[in-house]
Amino acid sequence: MTALPTAEFRSVVRSVRGMPTSDGAGVKLTRVIGTPMLRSVDPFLMLDEFGSDEPGDYRAGFPDHPHRGFETITYMIAGRFRHRDNKGHEGLLEAGGAQWMTAGRGIVHSEMPEQQEGLIWGFQLWLNLPASEKMRAPEYRDLQPWDIPVVRLSGGVELRVLAGEVAGAVGPIRGRATEPVYADVSLPASASATLDLPRGHEGFVYPFDGEGLAIVTAAGERPIARGELAVLGAGDALALKAVSGAARALVVAGRPLREPVVQYGPFVMNTRAQIEQAVRDYQAGRF
Ligand code: FE2
Repeated sequence: MTALPTAEFRSVVRSVRGMPTSDGAGVKLTRVIGTPMLRSVDPFLMLDEFGSDEPGDYRAGFPDHPHRGFETITYMIAGRFRHRDNKGHEGLLEAGGAQWMTAGRGIVHSEMPEQQEGLIWGFQLWLNLPASEKMRAPEYRDLQPWDIPVVRLSGGVELRVLAGEVAGAVGPIRGRATEPVYADVSLPASASATLDLPRGHEGFVYPFDGEGLAIVTAAGERPIARGELAVLGAGDALALKAVSGAARALVVAGRPLREPVVQYGPFVMNTRAQIEQAVRDYQAGRF
């Protein structure tokens, strides 16, 4: 769908840059959401970008570790990761593909690079679950590149839709309480695109390749550099413009939960008592 003439265009309420950090067995990454500067964009708890052509930065991978209470979405731009979990799932995550894992009441998995050289590049997003679903059964789904619909708009704009409905395409992940929208948008130099984003959803734009872009409202153009995350204001449409060269960005939105969040590493629950229970359950092998 294209935005109606009466659309309210989303502005930028704030922008932040990520923080270099490491996770797993020392994998270097940039944390963009889930830092002291930006704790969360409800319902999103974390966004990590990992990208390196230096095998020493990623070789050790993410050996066995638990999750409870939320979902992880890993989207690969380049390189390959092998996933294995204690529910018997195994999958190879390849460039252009994604993995959608619902940890629910508990899963233990490893995410290990399947290469010893070359570039590995991608994103992991953590999507919170509502209180009523935190203890649901775990679920795991591999999305191959061909499972993700591609939409071509005028001006050479191309979108890949992992979740939600964007520009008439419906992503493969459905039936989530937070109704997530997740798109990878590529714009050639000076192209623009107007996308619907559900009113009431919280969301962000993260230019990750090319020259950055501008978010356009009636008030003007707000430039967002590559590697800078723009938290969006209210509205029902988003206008993007590649101002100084080609640009590529993640556009992500979801219905906010507005519930208490208590996080202890890879456990995200609503109360301290639930976190203590998660630690006990994990230590007792009940994941
Ligand atoms: Fe994980």
